[in-house]
Amino acid sequence: MKAERPSDDKRWRLVDATMRRHGHEPNCLIEALHTVQESFGYLEKDALRYVALSLRVPLSKVYGVATFYHFFSMKPQGKHTCVVCMGTACYIKGAQNLLDSVRSRMVVEPGDTTSDGQLSLLTARCVGSCGLAPAVVIDNKVLGNVTESRLSETLGRSVEHEL
Ligand code: FES
Repeated sequence: MKAERPSDDKRWRLVDATMRRHGHEPNCLIEALHTVQESFGYLEKDALRYVALSLRVPLSKVYGVATFYHFFSMKPQGKHTCVVCMGTACYIKGAQNLLDSVRSRMVVEPGDTTSDGQLSLLTARCVGSCGLAPAVVIDNKVLGNVTESRLSETLGRSVEHEL
């Protein structure tokens, strides 16, 4: 039986494509988790559950692998997350400037959370929306054709008004 995707987020298609390429064999667990991390910026419980079901691997094993390898990061602690896509399509359309603007505005480095715990900043390798490059995902909502001013306005609305 096919596991149901946790949501209609396009990034699950990238994860599915990796698992399909390997015939949903349990031994592609690490590859599948890599794709989750590259598309979402981190590993979330839903993702671990989905991969476990899809590959018919016990969830405890998936957790074990996800926490054992240092190149995987679990969902960060921030109340909000901002994932800047740094894949080729987004990079050539100015993703670096977007990343830099969040870093300086929120005073946080990629992979870290602001000292007040409001925002975790992450990067991804492709969030499955290359046609909308540059793309940024804030709290699981994909924003396309992002400009610095739009990003700063969105962060202001979703994060800073709570400060
Ligand atoms: S490279 Fe950014 S969405 Fe694909």
